[in-house]
Amino acid sequence: MKQVTPYSALATVYDAVMAHVDYEAWADFLLHIVEMSLVELAGAQKPVAGGKELEDLRVLEMAAGTGLMTEELLEQSGWRIAVTDGSADMLARARQRLQPFQDRCSFEELDYSSEWSSNAAPFDLQVLLYDGLNYLLTTDEVDLLMHGVRGAASEGGLFVFDQSTPHNSINNAEFFEDEGEEDGIRYHRRSHFDLALGIHTTEFDIEGPNGRFSEVHRQRAWTRSQILELLERHRFEVIHAFDGFSLDPAHDKSERIHWVVRPTS
Ligand SMILES: C[S@@+](CC[C@H](N)C(=O)[O-])C[C@H]1O[C@@H](n2cnc3c(N)ncnc32)[C@H](O)[C@@H]1O
Repeated sequence: MKQVTPYSALATVYDAVMAHVDYEAWADFLLHIVEMSLVELAGAQKPVAGGKELEDLRVLEMAAGTGLMTEELLEQSGWRIAVTDGSADMLARARQRLQPFQDRCSFEELDYSSEWSSNAAPFDLQVLLYDGLNYLLTTDEVDLLMHGVRGAASEGGLFVFDQSTPHNSINNAEFFEDEGEEDGIRYHRRSHFDLALGIHTTEFDIEGPNGRFSEVHRQRAWTRSQILELLERHRFEVIHAFDGFSLDPAHDKSERIHWVVRPTS
């Protein structure tokens, strides 16, 4: 079996691996928390970020993958989206999927764990959803992410991201092993969590006409307080931290947290 980099072989079966995810509902939740936050920040005025109203936001999506979330966001809003990901294979699939929306999309390969900037900046809203943050294993890498977000934000621009916490890795271990098939390509996924290191490792075996491939993905299960500390250090104002997909405040036992933040001067 050939060892390959994360999200190269997996790109061919990613949509099948994610078939259980309700992206429509997730996009709806994102739109709701963005609108809610902008309305709260605007007070009696119309909700705006970077001088733009909700429908006209210039958006950066980081770690967009094959564009499953992007497609829903484009269907449910009038946003223009710069679609980015660190994997050329994932991005190629996103480009294909989003062809019907090509007048509202641009595409760029972008690795947010190094020094980065986007050709399409500035942005009124930057989003990083479904574990993108967890792929950053060190505080140095999170520093580079946050530095880039600050540099790419328009005045008043928001950053919305989610994180999976150690409670997700501990409580839902049985959901992290599965297998399936897409277009004649089979995958098998297994994972384990090292509580002491806070590292969640997932191994994918992928087998199809082009051969047998193995990918090892390492993610850090950051705690709520670790992320809060990093946000404070980078002078991001926390507008909301939601528990999972609810509008309840996140707490120390949350399995997933959605953060709505913005850089302050
Ligand atoms: C679980 S997928 C989520 C994809 C998409 N957001 C979704 O909801 O389907 C994680 C994505 O993060 C991307 N990724 C991981 N580390 C990255 C990095 N340092 N820079 C850019 N993208 C990265 C991967 O290529 C992959 O597409």
